[in-house]
Amino acid sequence: MSIDVSSVRTADAAALAEGGQQLRAGALVAFPTETVYGLGADATNGEAVASIFALKGRPRFNPLIVHVQSQAQAADHVEFNAAAQALAEAFWPGPLTLVLPRRADTPLSLLVSAGLDTVAMRCPAHPIAQALIAAAGVPLAAPSANPSGTVSPTSARHVAEGFGNKILILDGGETKIGVESTVIGFGPDGAVMLRPGGAPREAIEKIVGPLAAPVSGGPVASPGMLTSHYAPHARVRLNANAAEPGEKLLGFGPDAPADALNLSRKGDLAEAAAHLFAMLRALDSETEAIAVMPIPFIGLGEAINDRLKRAAAPRGTHV
Ligand code: TXA
Ligand code: MG
Repeated sequence: MSIDVSSVRTADAAALAEGGQQLRAGALVAFPTETVYGLGADATNGEAVASIFALKGRPRFNPLIVHVQSQAQAADHVEFNAAAQALAEAFWPGPLTLVLPRRADTPLSLLVSAGLDTVAMRCPAHPIAQALIAAAGVPLAAPSANPSGTVSPTSARHVAEGFGNKILILDGGETKIGVESTVIGFGPDGAVMLRPGGAPREAIEKIVGPLAAPVSGGPVASPGMLTSHYAPHARVRLNANAAEPGEKLLGFGPDAPADALNLSRKGDLAEAAAHLFAMLRALDSETEAIAVMPIPFIGLGEAINDRLKRAAAPRGTHV
């Protein structure tokens, strides 16, 4: 497959200034974060935010994560509670998103909240993400920079695969973490795990105690969690110890066959997370059926298993 990379630019000072200018003018710009590449828009410009849904082909308006440079900038737009404050101090900048009540005076587009009275806030650690938010001078709404329902992008080339020359793509190399941020909400009984991700549950629970699971239809829900998401074209079979005829194996750990792609030969879950989406893409271009070896449910393994379960789900199903 030939990929149009004509709008991919190394994220130097000139490209960042151009990106900031385009964002202020209402255009979309793709940029690296430490988790995955984001498709950014000025979060205060409703039309720009709407064009994210149009470009991604999202089936409906899910709320989006708003990216800020600091907790002080976030506090201009949302109300922090004590637990959120403690989590921001411990994890920001980093792969943690906090869903908090909108302030009455925030200029953030209502569309980023998709009808809720909360906003998901994240302060990314990647220097290019930080520099782009600064160049734009506004918070950036940014979902992962891929067409809806496909595997999230961990390189500028992956973004170009989805969106060709339609938008400026700032190239910052491969993302370090490789799965999206952990999303935490706050209910009457404390902090709720809305989406497992790059900040492991164990580290979060050290600060706020046990995380509750979201209750469907309850006070804190994560409306964007389609069951079939992150889906390659190929069928995906989980907890496989070997490939069946017609399948290609995605290995994990030292016991995998030497000729299989391996998420981490040494069994390191951070390395596996960083490789996950790129290896799913590579296998997807080679085979109709992918078999994935078991991944332990500890640390980043919770996020990896969550994404794999979605990749394996029957297509088009909702939670
Ligand atoms: O790592 C990441 O988080 C990436 C990078 C680009 O920062 N962004 C990302 O955004 O994954 P997106 O839009 O693909 O995921 C947003 C998630 C969804 O699961 C959505 O349901 C949840 O955050 N979310 C956003 N706003 C929410 C809100 N107000 N209430 C509950 N959940 C919310
Ligand atoms: Mg996504």
